[in-house]
Amino acid sequence: KQYEYILTSKPADGVALITLNRPKALNALSSPLFAELNKALVEFDEDDSIGALVITGSDRAFAAGADIKEMRDKTYSEVFKNRFLESWSDLTKIRKPIIAAVSGYALGGGCELALMCDIIVASPTAVFGQPEINLGVIPGGGGTQRLARTIGKSRTMELVLTGRNFSAIEAESWGVVSKVVDEGEGKVVQEAVKMAGLIASKGKVAVQAGKEAVNDAYESSLTEGLKSERRLFHGLFATHDQKEGMGAFAEKRKAKFTHS
Ligand code: HXC
Repeated sequence: KQYEYILTSKPADGVALITLNRPKALNALSSPLFAELNKALVEFDEDDSIGALVITGSDRAFAAGADIKEMRDKTYSEVFKNRFLESWSDLTKIRKPIIAAVSGYALGGGCELALMCDIIVASPTAVFGQPEINLGVIPGGGGTQRLARTIGKSRTMELVLTGRNFSAIEAESWGVVSKVVDEGEGKVVQEAVKMAGLIASKGKVAVQAGKEAVNDAYESSLTEGLKSERRLFHGLFATHDQKEGMGAFAEKRKAKFTHS
């Protein structure tokens, strides 16, 4: 067996599914689990048959956070020297879109993992939160930054400083998640796979350019971001898919993208 803490599959055309699989620990994100996740992500990023990825957990828990039992006895010099958790953000270097399908607990590092993904789809049972303050620490996987950029300072402060959970409905109304699906076991994964399949049916070059452009909105000034968008937009005129997409529209037929 290739992996111990995750499951991988290709549930639909062009779609890769990674399922966190430490059910007894509510998918607590141990270092070995994250190493496997990163490996699988890179593998699917390099796989030409894949256009979009979905990360999910179980119905009960997307992930209940970083592994508290693993962290408990670590010292400052150890976490500093070993760059503890730095490799988590490798996920943000993946070029293909990643959808988080969240059901149940997405707490601490689990919430941060979802926030690192490009799109979050949630089940009505999803429970988000940054409870690190209750453990005597603060979020360390980007929670303070990504939440602040998404839901603003006051809400982020409240969540980070009180450690209270927030619901799927709150997450949707604040723009943290793109969609709350209907109730039902496995429903959130079905919806995410469907969305990933739709994305995978588009031209891969344009999809990856689109992801890069949107991400630039979080990394740069408006002027820089607009410039980046325009450069990427201009660049797409060098692709076959642009000729095909616009040609197909003019000829009233369905585009057949070749991802080139
Ligand atoms: C290690 C965990 C865990 C975690 C749950 N478990 N969360 N182990 N790390 N983050 C384990 C429990 O110890 C228990 O193991 C088993 O999973 C089932 O959990 P229970 O607590 O028995 O379940 P329940 O009563 O249903 O409560 C669910 C829960 C609770 C509310 C989600 O488990 C909980 O509060 N978990 C911790 C949430 C948290 O604080 N997350 C933030 C972590 S810090 P046993 O062996 O007893 O059966 C963090 C920092 C990130 O993420 C910083 C950098 C990214």
